[in-house]
Amino acid sequence: MARSLISAGNRLREAIEGWFQAVFSSKYNPANYLGAVILFFMAVVLVSGIYLFIFYETNADRAYGSVESLTHDQWYAGGLMRSLHRYASDGAMLALILHAFRQLFSFRFQRNRWVAWVSGGGLLLVTLIEGISGYWMIWDTRAAWIAIRSVEFLDALPIFGEPLARAFLVNEAVSNQFFFVILFLHLFLPIPFVFAFWIHTTRVSRPIWTMPRNVLYAISLILFVLSAVKPALSEPAANLRMLPGQIGIDWFYLFLYPFFDMVSPAWAWIAFTAALAVSTLVPWLVPAGKRRAARINLRACDGCTQCYLDCPYEAIHMQARSDGRPYAKEAVVVAARCSSCSICVGSCDRAGVELPDFANLAFRRRMRDLLTPDDGTGRPRILAVRCEWTVPMEPERASPNVRPLTLPCVGFIQPRTIQHAIKLGASGVFVVGCRMGDCHYREGNAWVEQRLAGARRPSLDPGRVDPARVRAAWLAGAQTDALKRELDRFEADLKRLPPPSRPVHPGAGTGATIPNSQNRPSAPEVIAHV
Ligand code: FES
Repeated sequence: MARSLISAGNRLREAIEGWFQAVFSSKYNPANYLGAVILFFMAVVLVSGIYLFIFYETNADRAYGSVESLTHDQWYAGGLMRSLHRYASDGAMLALILHAFRQLFSFRFQRNRWVAWVSGGGLLLVTLIEGISGYWMIWDTRAAWIAIRSVEFLDALPIFGEPLARAFLVNEAVSNQFFFVILFLHLFLPIPFVFAFWIHTTRVSRPIWTMPRNVLYAISLILFVLSAVKPALSEPAANLRMLPGQIGIDWFYLFLYPFFDMVSPAWAWIAFTAALAVSTLVPWLVPAGKRRAARINLRACDGCTQCYLDCPYEAIHMQARSDGRPYAKEAVVVAARCSSCSICVGSCDRAGVELPDFANLAFRRRMRDLLTPDDGTGRPRILAVRCEWTVPMEPERASPNVRPLTLPCVGFIQPRTIQHAIKLGASGVFVVGCRMGDCHYREGNAWVEQRLAGARRPSLDPGRVDPARVRAAWLAGAQTDALKRELDRFEADLKRLPPPSRPVHPGAGTGATIPNSQNRPSAPEVIAHV
């Protein structure tokens, strides 16, 4: 049930992102840079917050006036800073929520990623409390409403001797200490945020900290225009003797308060605790199938470091050689960090890394079994290698000349695999992976694209495999029409080639290790971006 719901959400996500992809291309699609977008907004919040703090008066009688003065007397600086502070906070929360849903719908919380999921939840919670405390500091009618509902919520817990709500019975009861506490909370919360952020990114190689300049300029422009056209304003000054009338709500941060208005604090706690528990436990409620961690075959490892460089989760490190062989280093897999994505398998053309559940030998046998039977149609025989997260390709629904083979990620593919497939009788190899920027394991499709283009080791050697026999397409799960179109096009192109009776390079197809070739005659044009 939960799995079906998440899958339905993923179809919606892919459809929306597909639209973004079509408009902005994968390079400029903001959905591919949500982490960097959050960081950018946080930086704006920090800078504008420092400015506002200089003029803010931590005093029950003057807090409201100081904010009003900032907003109106120096609208060109303080007012602008306040609006930037508000809209950047909203932007950060929006990007956090979108990022969380993106990870949820694409099942990127399973296996080793539970750490990122749980710490991400902590980031969301801290950001929410930070935003709410910011609204308290203004001390207008909205702040009073938030304060009263919040303390009622807290008073439902049997931990306070004196009900906190007493502090908000009349205006005179609100003390300067209260403002110090709120200010302290507002200034202190960035510390747990940074800590949670560190945990969140600690198991990720090459986190995306930056975004393309065009995306940055576009987001900055929107932020400034919004701040200028619709400046952030206060409600009337807080008056605890009067019920608040119509209050403007920032739904990014205050969405819980209308709910608090409707239910008792006890029910609010029950709902809050249940929501927190269920969302935190998602990785265990919807677990991935069991798959063992990658392992290093030391007899084949020459310590080249490529698997270490390619791993998206810092699950491989290099250590001094332990087996006396004449290499300086050897690779070691940290099983607890391994997502079993198979990208490291593709990094090593010496078969020095293996995924136990996709053992190299068994994989080759599978490839041979797929490619050996003749379908009798005379059409080019195509090995279609796909990752399990892209468009489905059931063997029974594929054309008889197309032999689909599913892998955890196309990052598994090394040029020698392609060479072997051609040797086994494939006319061509068609690689189908997730959309660029959306690889389930972050970087598998990008690495394969670079390997095929000769820009990353181990790279495709056009002296051994005719680049025209290899093509790749990066597709979302629902792009079945695009897949068919690309496959038909590839088949038509293959028909124009001579039969792949023998390897292009003397000695190719012998099963010998392909040397990494960086000085290639030409980079093949094999990538289809759809
Ligand atoms: Fe699809 Fe990596 S998981 S390309």
